[in-house]
Amino acid sequence: MRVLICGGAGYIGSNMTFLLTEKGCDPIVFDNFSKGHRTAVRRAELVEGDLADYDLLVNTLKDRNIEAVMHFAASIEVGESVRVPLEYYRNNFCNTRNLLQAMETAGIEKFVFSSTAAVYGRPAEIPITEECPKDPINPYGQSKWAVERMCHYQSRTGRLRYAALRYFNACGAGGNATLGEDHRPESHLIPLIIRAAMGRRDSISIFGTDYPTPDGTCIRDYIHIDDLCMAHLLALDKLDTSSELVYNLGNGSGYSVRQVIETVRKIAGKDFKVTEAERRAGDPPVLTSDAAKAKKELGWEPQKPELEEMVESAWKWHNDHPNGYPD
Ligand code: UFG
Repeated sequence: MRVLICGGAGYIGSNMTFLLTEKGCDPIVFDNFSKGHRTAVRRAELVEGDLADYDLLVNTLKDRNIEAVMHFAASIEVGESVRVPLEYYRNNFCNTRNLLQAMETAGIEKFVFSSTAAVYGRPAEIPITEECPKDPINPYGQSKWAVERMCHYQSRTGRLRYAALRYFNACGAGGNATLGEDHRPESHLIPLIIRAAMGRRDSISIFGTDYPTPDGTCIRDYIHIDDLCMAHLLALDKLDTSSELVYNLGNGSGYSVRQVIETVRKIAGKDFKVTEAERRAGDPPVLTSDAAKAKKELGWEPQKPELEEMVESAWKWHNDHPNGYPD
């Protein structure tokens, strides 16, 4: 199958491209390199372009005989989204609308969309099921939720078959630990702790130690990037027979910030400085998933549910790439 991977040079997109190649599919990467890395794209055709470029999108979809689109090209920083909301609506919503319009013009129906646990805002219940109220508390989550609604209405016309996959905390390095996480600037917990353990930063700060959790720090549901990508493959298959799919993707087990720090300490075998800081704006205390629906309907079963395995792969990648990707 010929699949266009929008954002295929980014962290999740490059891992998805790798998996599709392994499975004998034919991924074509579409990326503007605003955040992605050229060296993260391997063994796949590359189209350099922007999702705002409607003509390029239509031509790419038609010329390459694309059969399905996976969309990973989004802005993902909650804090930044609060500072520049219009930018988040432009990139995450307007550009996705442009992509869907190009797909309609080219007659392509299958679409796998990266959504997020941020659509639930501060969840009323833990673990979170897909039915929990959608009440995003920041422009990032709101922009993703707006796309989900757009997909819902477009699917009702009969011209779109889509899967919205709501990620919890993706982490680890895939492709046998050769495709890792390299955001610039980095804001994600595991890569930042690893850098502290490698001596590449002075310390790691815990954002908030007075949350209503057993050790006072935030709890998140971490999912290995390989397991996350496998769910995309299964969802894509299921679009043969379904027009609208929505799934949470997580392991269901929560780890506190302190537990993640301890896990990195153990895997790295190194000590480093930990400081306690104020809460970060917009952080819900606990986010854990109920992913029973994906398991039941897709037959998805995470193969690497242990945090240690996720951290091990990330630790290896960061040590193999102390300066991140070369470009
Ligand atoms: N944290 C720290 N110190 C740090 C960095 C993070 O204590 O230096 C804490 C955060 O406050 C949070 C936890 O570690 O409690 C996890 O933070 P991340 O930034 O790694 O992940 P988030 O849960 O905030 O974000 C994840 C995805 C985002 C997505 C968000 C929305 O990584 O891309 O979920 O659901 F936007």
